[in-house]
Amino acid sequence: MKATAALLRETEGPLTIEEIELDSLQAGEVLVRIRGVGICHTDIAAQQGVIPLPLPTVLGHEGSGIVEAVGEGVTRLVPGDHVALSYDHCGDCQWCSRGRTAYCEVFAAVNYFGARLDSSLTMRQGEDEVFGSWFGQSSFASYAIASERNAVKVPDDLPIELLGPLGCGLQTGAGSVMNVLRPEAGDGFCVFGLGAVGLAGVMAARALGCDPIIAVDPNPVRLELARELGATHTFDPAASHDLVWDIIGVAAPGVHCSLDAVGTGPVIRQALEVLRSPGRCVTVGFQGLEHDITIDQGHLLLGRSLSGVIEGDADPAEFIPRLIALHREGKFPFERLIETFPFERINEAIAAAEAGTVVKPVVVFD
Ligand SMILES: NC(=O)c1ccc[n+]([C@@H]2O[C@H](COP(=O)([O-])OP(=O)(O)OC[C@H]3O[C@@H](n4cnc5c(N)ncnc54)[C@H](O)[C@@H]3O)[C@@H](O)[C@H]2O)c1
Ligand SMILES: [Zn+2]
Ligand SMILES: [Zn+2]
Repeated sequence: MKATAALLRETEGPLTIEEIELDSLQAGEVLVRIRGVGICHTDIAAQQGVIPLPLPTVLGHEGSGIVEAVGEGVTRLVPGDHVALSYDHCGDCQWCSRGRTAYCEVFAAVNYFGARLDSSLTMRQGEDEVFGSWFGQSSFASYAIASERNAVKVPDDLPIELLGPLGCGLQTGAGSVMNVLRPEAGDGFCVFGLGAVGLAGVMAARALGCDPIIAVDPNPVRLELARELGATHTFDPAASHDLVWDIIGVAAPGVHCSLDAVGTGPVIRQALEVLRSPGRCVTVGFQGLEHDITIDQGHLLLGRSLSGVIEGDADPAEFIPRLIALHREGKFPFERLIETFPFERINEAIAAAEAGTVVKPVVVFD
């Protein structure tokens, strides 16, 4: 069948809206009519060549929409179901079977390689190859082929076009706090970087009763938004003479846990240095596949830990419904981060994310 997709034809190039053909469904797959798709910083990293990709490709990994058709053997979804799409995983390996789907043994192959695991393509243009299957969806398109595993059924009384970011950015920030850092009420929390990931971390920390909640970002609009969403203290790193001491000053002798949603060496070091002993720091910011940083091992020795986390260590089938339940309680108002753009203006949506003027642009279809 035919679909309209935004193709990346050359690294750093703009996306071009073109017609493509979608393959027929294989067993376990679902066809989703996309209603909305968030722009995640990882799409931008891929567009800029930080993640090597076969071209032309279709990015987009925060899609949401309505199931149009299901392949053989699909039992959990039927046409008409509303779904939010997340990263894909195999469902069979040792980590998938232990519920650690973000560390699936074939994570890279099912999310980054532009094809299905059997190397077949989900997208073409006549005789020409188009590499889809980005995060098992490639949802910068009017229709996407996903799998029963990464299409998570969501309630149909919520605005379906806005639910896609639950599948990556929001899940990453909230999951890093709720699944990995797991603070107790009254614990101090500090987050660096207030994009959708960091702000989801703020909302999750607030929902768990953290105090203080300290948020750091050079963007004053995002600092204000963080305060509205639950941050008790905010810092612009450029305005602080000694950021680490300023943060320790409001949470002496340091915070119990911290989240890096920037990914640069200096920020990871700060996120580690603001911890009390013992304390836990999670880094999720992505700055390239090979990226050396320097940390103080003496500081780490005193019971502090630093770990990298993918997708908030969340199994989307379990975690997206948890986030929706929190949203219904008024504790996860993620719509505050979103601004919508029509699909035709997808390059503007990406530019807004890059410039930091919109936290979570969501591209919507008529
Ligand atoms: N590990 C994962 O599974 C996963 C999933 C999603 C996103 N990510 C990554 O997480 C990061 C955040 O994603 P996002 O969509 O929220 O990005 P974003 O670009 O919207 O947000 C990053 C924020 O960091 C701020 N920042 C820049 N320098 C800073 C500094 N020195 N101190 C504090 N803040 C600073 C920026 O002003 C911006 O607000 C990206 O690197 C993205 O690729 C990782
Ligand atoms: Zn697996
Ligand atoms: Zn993402």
